[in-house]
Amino acid sequence: EKGGYEHFMMKEIHEQPKVVADTLNSVLKDGEIDLSGVGLSAEEIRNISEIQIVACGSAYHVGMVGQYVIEDLARIPVRVELASEFRYRNPILDKNMLVIIVSQSGETADSLAALREAKLREIKTLGIVNVVGSSIAREADNVFYTLAGPEISVATTKAYSTQLIAMYTLAVQFAKIRGQISDEQYMGYIKEMQTLPDKIRRILEDKERIQWFASKQMNAKDVFFVGRGIDYAICMEGSLKMKEISYIHSEAYAAGELKHGTISLIEDETLVIGVLTQSALFEKTVSNMVECKSRGAYLMGLTTTGNYNIEESADFTVYIPETDEHFATSLAVIPLQLMGYYVSVAKGLDVDKPRNLAKSVTVE
Ligand code: M6R
Repeated sequence: EKGGYEHFMMKEIHEQPKVVADTLNSVLKDGEIDLSGVGLSAEEIRNISEIQIVACGSAYHVGMVGQYVIEDLARIPVRVELASEFRYRNPILDKNMLVIIVSQSGETADSLAALREAKLREIKTLGIVNVVGSSIAREADNVFYTLAGPEISVATTKAYSTQLIAMYTLAVQFAKIRGQISDEQYMGYIKEMQTLPDKIRRILEDKERIQWFASKQMNAKDVFFVGRGIDYAICMEGSLKMKEISYIHSEAYAAGELKHGTISLIEDETLVIGVLTQSALFEKTVSNMVECKSRGAYLMGLTTTGNYNIEESADFTVYIPETDEHFATSLAVIPLQLMGYYVSVAKGLDVDKPRNLAKSVTVE
């Protein structure tokens, strides 16, 4: 049942090109995005005043990416909040708001409670859900099904990747309907999304290199992930993977925040992973990485092919194929999933069932 792989996580990592393509294709009709299956009409999309994304764990990290992408493309204000905070906060919700709940299982207690809170206040809800017929899928007004298939490994990989695609398609379609992008840009974004599965496949072909690096880093005490903008959201996911299956303490930091405290934790050989997929922020993050290096850090750079000058500062670099920068998360997350996986394997840990964790958190 593991399809020849040693762990479900590795099998699921390798399923990503397919499930990302399936999820994208499920909302494409005649080459354009069609959200009628999801149940959102053009008029409803035009009337959205604000979007509130609510989720837990990795699904929350998808929400953070969604915030950047939707705000930048569709120019709709987006707030993202952890479901466990949202539900007890008496949030201010406008009647024309759209509340998006992201959940693989569709059973996460806090996410379900957040959905119910929004419904109680008669706010329109959309679930981005993987498990068909789950509580969130049944109770949300609209459902965008991710087609990841069953995910067994506690650490999410393929569900996360399909949730990202769902976010992108919402962003691109909202942007088109609200007149924020031209027809040409619209078609360009769709075409670019269609290239992602193949680019993910290409990254996976180079996994041995990550395995080698991960085995060298398996005794790390702390790992810091730094990035800005969308790259910060990617860092949060990379850091969670490192903690949950490799049991290495890690933190994700908005690179500009380092100076405000965290940099005091950098010692000789501390691993700092810089994520740099956003060209406008590249130099800024590099200079934060260099500051860490001058305090002894060992630097890994994760950036787009072509940014070779990173090698002037980074000790080890992983390149991902070029894509539109809004969609870079789909590629940059792959080496970080592999890092978490290979460190866990090198340490001989139970990759698919890390200690103290359940696949679906159905109690608060
Ligand atoms: O089923 P959900 O998507 O609602 O689950 C949310 C989180 O519990 C989940 O993403 C968790 O953080 C994963 N184990 C991360 O790999």
